[in-house]
Amino acid sequence: MIHQHTSLLPYNTFGIDARAAFFTEICSIQELQTALQAGIQPVMILGGGSNMLLTKDVSGLVIKNSISGINLAGSDAEKTFIKVGGGVVWHDFVCWAVENGYGGVENLSLIPGTVGASPVQNIGAYGVELKDVFVELEGVELATGQVHTFGHAACRFGYRDSVFKQELKGKYCITSVTFALTHHAHRLNISYGDIQKTLESNGVTEPTIADVSRAVIQIRSSKLPDPAKIGNCGSFFKNPETSRTVLERIRLSHPQVVSYDLPDGRVKIPAGWLIEQCGWKGEKVGNTGCYEKQALVLVNYGGATGAEVKNLAYAIIDSVEKTFGIRLEPEVNII
Ligand code: EPU
Repeated sequence: MIHQHTSLLPYNTFGIDARAAFFTEICSIQELQTALQAGIQPVMILGGGSNMLLTKDVSGLVIKNSISGINLAGSDAEKTFIKVGGGVVWHDFVCWAVENGYGGVENLSLIPGTVGASPVQNIGAYGVELKDVFVELEGVELATGQVHTFGHAACRFGYRDSVFKQELKGKYCITSVTFALTHHAHRLNISYGDIQKTLESNGVTEPTIADVSRAVIQIRSSKLPDPAKIGNCGSFFKNPETSRTVLERIRLSHPQVVSYDLPDGRVKIPAGWLIEQCGWKGEKVGNTGCYEKQALVLVNYGGATGAEVKNLAYAIIDSVEKTFGIRLEPEVNII
């Protein structure tokens, strides 16, 4: 059933009260195809609403993808293939995998959003990205209602990027994703950030996938605000990649600059560090602000409009550019 003038407040983790002219929730490919046949344009697909900032009411039809299901789709000597509905909450899938002894997604614990949205920006955390466990996805082309399958190469994954953020932006609804997870001899990835330290302080010497998941949950909850309490979309900006020359120039005025080497000789500088150096960390502007424990996260303290958050984001972008000559790019989809 298609509803009119629906508030999207319950459907976006920033907690912005924008309205959709038309709204429907679908639980199967057939329901999606029926909704598309209504011919209402434009169509916007909504997953967990955890990576978008609504700055105005949305015209056209908003479709909430609630396709469920976690199904075994085969296995080989090392891996089990698991096909998951696009509407499944990402962290519910991670918990299911950990509880059932499947390895590969434990570092991606507690990332907000849905399985259908996960390939769009190739979600990643603590040294693991979605592309590392991805096999294929099924998507419905919004213009035709046809179901297409995309393999790994066709998705063109990059850092927080895929073909679904580029040429195919807004053209598909991802209805399922198939993952390959290890069923034994799990390859744990604990070298990144604070994972090792957290495992040690938990008294864990021989970590299991459940231990790693627990550690990641602890780290994330200590740094990132819970969207149920303070509206947010996780990292608002991407970590910028730049040349070594730019890094050395920054080092002259800021000897403590943090950076990570990239395989191509360039470097990545944490956006959180750049923003903090510009004095934004913990700053409140009206109902919005830059989170006190992680400067990369913008928050809604209650009642903020999308435009307010957008203004803050662009004030931060301008200030970082003025200070460091680096223009940050939003990771969040601004609508
Ligand atoms: N830093 C600061 N000040 C801050 C925040 C960070 O100086 O306020 C510096 C510190 O030096 C810190 C470094 O930045 O060591 C890295 O910070 P952190 O480990 O928190 O990671 P990040 O680079 O800020 C990225 C992802 C996160 C992911 C973490 C852990 C992006 C845009 N963000 O953040 O992803 O959880 O690494 O892997 O790549 C998300 O995408 O929503 C997200 C939360």
